[in-house]
Amino acid sequence: MRLAILTGGSRGLGLALCEALAERGYRVMEFSRGAPHAYSVRLDLSSPGDSHRIAATAVASFGNKHIEELLVVSNAGTLDSIGPASRQERAAVLANVNTNFTSAILVLTEIVAHFQDTPCRKVLANISSGAAQRGYAGWSLYCAAKAGMENYVRALALEQQLEPHPFIPINVDPGVIDTEMQALIRSSSAADFPEIERFIKRKEQGALVSPEKVAGAVCHILQLTSLSFGARYEVGDYGA
Ligand SMILES: NC(=O)c1ccc[n+]([C@@H]2O[C@H](COP(=O)([O-])OP(=O)(O)OC[C@H]3O[C@@H](n4cnc5c(N)ncnc54)[C@H](OP(=O)(O)O)[C@@H]3O)[C@@H](O)[C@H]2O)c1
Repeated sequence: MRLAILTGGSRGLGLALCEALAERGYRVMEFSRGAPHAYSVRLDLSSPGDSHRIAATAVASFGNKHIEELLVVSNAGTLDSIGPASRQERAAVLANVNTNFTSAILVLTEIVAHFQDTPCRKVLANISSGAAQRGYAGWSLYCAAKAGMENYVRALALEQQLEPHPFIPINVDPGVIDTEMQALIRSSSAADFPEIERFIKRKEQGALVSPEKVAGAVCHILQLTSLSFGARYEVGDYGA
């Protein structure tokens, strides 16, 4: 079995990735709150304890099944809630960081532990963002989590290089995609997000890329035979 495990496959880029990978012959499992597919597992990443337990049970269901290739994509993400750090509610801070960072790592921990000794090609991709590399006013939590995830992947890559059956951990910058996340940005206010006009113009100028096109480029990257441990890939270099 060629297996693909993703977070956030209910819509947006994650949905397009699930469909692209299924078309390419992968058995797909995805984790999200909406969990709309037969292959979905319902999980709320804002709740780390549940995420850990549910992910552990789900990956254990594969037991010792023969796996020929494993692709893992940490894709789920949220900008909620957009606005200055000084006005973030405690619950919103926890939900953002738990979703984008703590639970993302907990889910990856379960997957890596379960499949560490599986002797096949294994790629672990973190869907990152330009926000990992520069600050955006109004997105402090998202920027912090994305930067943290990129460095998590770099450290994991060093560890995996020492393993007999390593995962190849990589970061992927998906560019600017026409999804609900962009709609949420455009529906915010200049007071909460000073760069809003630039994002509204991008949509008007047709500069957003479809999730299907980005998913095609991500699949291309995942299947590269020359992947480098801990490297950062940009979909723009691969046709999106
Ligand atoms: N759109 C862009 O321009 C852009 C740019 C750079 C990076 N990215 C990154 O690309 C990835 C995909 O973004 P997208 O644009 O496709 O976003 P999206 O359309 O908003 O979809 C987000 C996905 O994450 C899941 N998710 C969110 N909160 C969750 C939670 N608490 N528990 C479980 N799943 C949760 C959602 O599923 P449920 O709601 O069903 O739970 C959904 O499947 C994200 O990591 C994002 O940061 C996007």
